Amino acid sequence: MAMPDRFRTIIEPFRIHSVEPLRFLTEGERRERIVAAGYNLFDLHADDVLIDLLTDSGTGAMSRDQWAAIQHGDESYAGSPSWFVFLEAVQELFPFPHVIPTHQGRAAEKILFNAIAGPGKVVPNNTHFDTTRANVEFTGAEAVDLVIPEGRDPAADHPFKGNMDLARLEALLAQRAADVPVVFVTVTNNSGGGQPVSLENLRGVRDLCDRFGVPLFLDACRFAENAWFMKLREPGCEDRDVPDIVREMASLADGMTMSAKKDPMANIGGWLAMRDDAWAERCRNLLILTEGFPTYGGLAGRDLEAIAQGLRECVDEHYLRYRIRSTAYLAEALDRAGVPIVRPAGGHAVYLDARALLPHVPPLAYPGQALAVALYETGGIRGCEIGTVMFGRRLDGTEEPAAMDLVRLAIPRRTYTQSHMDYVIEVVTDVASRAGDLPGYQIVEQPPQLRHFTARFAPLG
Ligand SMILES: Cc1ncc(COP(=O)(O)O)c(C=O)c1O
Repeated sequence: MAMPDRFRTIIEPFRIHSVEPLRFLTEGERRERIVAAGYNLFDLHADDVLIDLLTDSGTGAMSRDQWAAIQHGDESYAGSPSWFVFLEAVQELFPFPHVIPTHQGRAAEKILFNAIAGPGKVVPNNTHFDTTRANVEFTGAEAVDLVIPEGRDPAADHPFKGNMDLARLEALLAQRAADVPVVFVTVTNNSGGGQPVSLENLRGVRDLCDRFGVPLFLDACRFAENAWFMKLREPGCEDRDVPDIVREMASLADGMTMSAKKDPMANIGGWLAMRDDAWAERCRNLLILTEGFPTYGGLAGRDLEAIAQGLRECVDEHYLRYRIRSTAYLAEALDRAGVPIVRPAGGHAVYLDARALLPHVPPLAYPGQALAVALYETGGIRGCEIGTVMFGRRLDGTEEPAAMDLVRLAIPRRTYTQSHMDYVIEVVTDVASRAGDLPGYQIVEQPPQLRHFTARFAPLG
């Protein structure tokens, strides 16, 4: 039943059935914990975090119907009924002939890029997510980000800041199409602020791919949130059903990588899907080597069932209206309080502009890390640096500032209430009011790839 229009409050389209307790530490206790973790928020015990906005990945609350679906899980090694339930739910939205289940998104990326990339190749994307970039580069290929200029400017208002820069893509393809095994578009553009891509832009990318004979893949983790933005903001989409918009997105692509830990609201899972038979055969052979048999990939039958049910729930309009509104609620309050954020609000997260808030901390002293640590110490909020720590290290080991220094406050799906968000607003505003006192950081230990997960830091000065 539709919500009556005369009430403006958009409510959670669920009620709570089971709860998890939160553990409250003092500020002093949190300071001890973060020092012991080498100032790396990934190294904290999650019980020591009050509001965990590190990621929206695998952290959503599953529904009663997803838990019930788990009971239907059939663990047959080959040809499990749960596989067919999963396959049908995926193909209902993404009708690709080949669907290859994996334990999460990066496994799909690893298999695909192993099969099609390698030295001398170049993969364009609006903005590569960290694991996507790492998996491209691990094969010896080059990962190039070609988001529109507005997508690199946190303050620029644009309805589709995740769009690909078509002119730059055309220039790259004109020069090097033979070296480009695939063009990727990430929907929504996580590393660029969770910003959506328009259908018009996707069609433009498709045209270029057709002209230069290059396949187009979606990194579709947040396809439902992206489709909702299309419905809200793109002329011609306002009266369309979300699944119909999603199917048009799929029809423009030749394949996809997917993490089921995002929009499908599962705790684990992913897949790779495509049209091309020869690529699919190569990928399935790699799947068997590293993940499992093609009808379960890296997953248990129960996980396949939970994903299938989550896929049906995540395209529900009441859910999407609440989801996108609750992200905007946090963003608008911070904006009103004068905290610099990426505007407009993205789908799954609010991104604080640490470079703007901490102008006294140069990018190579990691303003995003400084802000993220302060949010934890002050209020037990765990966010994630998306900036020079994550992206600043070149392959030769030298460093350069990332395009932006952000702290992402990712909102797990259906997990926190409005009063949790009111608390977050209070803590962020408090930290912002004394941002000038926050120190920069140096890295004292780091691995060669994906350093943000395990690096250890020390405050400067
Ligand atoms: C856009 C994007 N692509 C790929 C991934 C990788 O997915 P996973 O964490 O399941 O490996 C993520 C995860 O956050 C993501 O946001």
